[in-house]
Amino acid sequence: MTETRTTPNEAVGSGEALAREMAAPLAVLLAASTVGETRLPPGLAPARAAALATALGADSAADPARDGGMVIAGRGPGGLREPAAPLDLCGLPALVGPVCGLLAGQAVTAMVLVGTVPPGLSAVLEASGARVVAPGAGAHGPLAIAGRDAPMAQDRSDRPDDPPELAMAALCIGLTAPGETRGLLPPALAALAVDLFGAFGVPVAVTPQGARLCVAVTGQTETTPAALPDGWPALPAWAAAAPRPLTIAVDGPAAAGKGTLARTLADRLGLAYLDTGLLYRATGMAVRAAGGDPDNPGDAEAAARALDPTAIEPDALRGEDAGDAASRVAAIPAVRAALLDQQRAFARQPPAGARGAVLDGRDIGSVVCPDAPVKLFVTASVETRAKRRVLELRQRGQEGIESRVLQDMKARDARDSARGVAPLVPADDAVVLDTSDLDRDGALFGALALAGARLRAGPQGMGGPHTS
Ligand code: C5P
Repeated sequence: MTETRTTPNEAVGSGEALAREMAAPLAVLLAASTVGETRLPPGLAPARAAALATALGADSAADPARDGGMVIAGRGPGGLREPAAPLDLCGLPALVGPVCGLLAGQAVTAMVLVGTVPPGLSAVLEASGARVVAPGAGAHGPLAIAGRDAPMAQDRSDRPDDPPELAMAALCIGLTAPGETRGLLPPALAALAVDLFGAFGVPVAVTPQGARLCVAVTGQTETTPAALPDGWPALPAWAAAAPRPLTIAVDGPAAAGKGTLARTLADRLGLAYLDTGLLYRATGMAVRAAGGDPDNPGDAEAAARALDPTAIEPDALRGEDAGDAASRVAAIPAVRAALLDQQRAFARQPPAGARGAVLDGRDIGSVVCPDAPVKLFVTASVETRAKRRVLELRQRGQEGIESRVLQDMKARDARDSARGVAPLVPADDAVVLDTSDLDRDGALFGALALAGARLRAGPQGMGGPHTS
């Protein structure tokens, strides 16, 4: 018989499974150490959550305002009660790091039952000033943790091989540590940290670093109660709290993964999605279908003005002919002006009552939606993009010679970046996400982390050292 249990150390890629395991109990623990009432949405394993909160001295009750929801009234600061019985985390390996981290940053002494102590955890806890006793030669729990007020902040941003549970433990200690604590997390865990810590009023900044993100928290003596929305953690609290309509601009060069990212981001956040390249393609093809010439400004402008963005059929517009027609009409200023109105209308009033929109293109952050609160510039090394494009061509049954594609791509990059009208450059206040080392989920969660940090920081956070 084989047992397939994921332990934190085995987590790779975006870290999504680990983030899903950590989200609810971490929210409960933060609620328990925060003065005031935190509201948890339905579906977050209430029995287990309530037991954890109670063990730490918080009161929990059903939320009268939300069916299936729960209210946790914590007693911080430093309000965690010394648990009368050991906290049992034996079946919850993902939580050992963050729970021990939270305890180490609070002036309580607690016994925690763990199946296996993650290697290096005791050192992280002790580096914060906490005292740790680990019977059983350190490999097996229980751990007795004597935490402290105002623990020491740590910088683990130079440890690319840090197991996620150690980085998360350090960040959890950092929630109450004076100064800034930094740790490197896989994208899904970074997105969770940004969302959850931010929801409790802790300033969080994030910077992509290869396949991980560097998350920086600034410790607070008191956290503020969070209101977690229906659908959380899949729907981040920052997205539910954002002013409507929420516009996210996604720009970047070809084959950087921006289309896929923009689409998955929109799905995840319940936003409408507009691939603005399709507008240019549809305009070009409409001109041709009407017997006109895509280079003729009159024909092209009329087609652009008559375009209904909701009636576009993407599959019919993927071919080279549509791409060619698109690039011709895209060079005509009157077409750009007409499509500008369409794009702005879509962002202002997204279809089907969506709470906002994701627009992808080349000039969304700089020209179309300069006021978008979140602007992502998605890029990747030209070699990575050429490889992706070759793969894409081969999947469509077309031939792709890598050296040739690479050469073309370099030429197109130079042209796109240098052109006078709407050149391809990141807006000043855009955050750059390099997807060279990220898969699809990694890019999605990286974008969620960046977007969440940007929205929580507000306009004054723009252009700061951690966000651009
Ligand atoms: O992104 P896509 O390849 O579908 O775009 C097709 C063409 O439309 C591009 O080559 C570019 O000329 C034009 N375009 C543009 N501005 C945008 C999106 C696309 O000029 N925001």
